[in-house]
Amino acid sequence: MNVIIQILRRDGRDQEPYRQSFEIHPPLAATVSWALGELNARLPLVDVDGKAARHIAWNCGCRQKTCGVCAMVINGRPMPACSAFIEDLTVRKNTVSVEPLSKFPVVRDLVVDTTILEEKMLEAGAFLSGAPGIERTRDGRLMEISRCMLCGCCFEVCPNCLPNGPFIGPAAMHGALRAALQEQAASHRKRILRNAREKGGWLCSRALSCQAVCPAGIPVTGTLASL
Ligand code: SF4
Ligand code: SF4
Ligand code: FES
Repeated sequence: MNVIIQILRRDGRDQEPYRQSFEIHPPLAATVSWALGELNARLPLVDVDGKAARHIAWNCGCRQKTCGVCAMVINGRPMPACSAFIEDLTVRKNTVSVEPLSKFPVVRDLVVDTTILEEKMLEAGAFLSGAPGIERTRDGRLMEISRCMLCGCCFEVCPNCLPNGPFIGPAAMHGALRAALQEQAASHRKRILRNAREKGGWLCSRALSCQAVCPAGIPVTGTLASL
């Protein structure tokens, strides 16, 4: 089966976006990550109109849905490219649309700058005052929220997450809870939780779109209940 990969591209920061399409012939179980790698291996790379194209900038890391760096918007939904199977994306049509996450500054093509997620983590006060409490590291909740890979998919879909807004968002709430669960000093633990409630829990409208797209399957409901 021939599939068209349509990519929303930018040549650099603050450059105008444009769409460019490429034809691929995916094998069984091919992912969008596979497709981007295959396109970039072509010399020269030519689009569907026969025009020479610049190779595609995108972030690739673990290729097993663990590091989160390959998150992008695929057929309108944020997800890691390495777990986006082309056969699932082409049930109704043979075109797959690929765009960068929209709430982060685009560096080039599909590469975005997700520094805002780390800034939100700092705003949440998600850090320890000293060494972590070892006896707490087997806590089931801690293991669950530790799966967060800061991919940004939740930030993309959450109606309340805005780069300059007051809401810290689900990833920072998980981070704050993670810090609170490991913090040994009771006063600092209380401070983290109060901060996460005021800048997170109280501003969350509980639509749960973040939970629906989280590739790590972390339930925000559990974190909200623990703040
Ligand atoms: S909570 Fe889930 S969707 Fe959000 S950054 Fe972490 S892994 Fe990604
Ligand atoms: S439940 Fe809704 S408002 Fe709350 S963090 Fe998730 S997407 Fe955002
Ligand atoms: S490359 Fe690590 S999640 Fe996709």
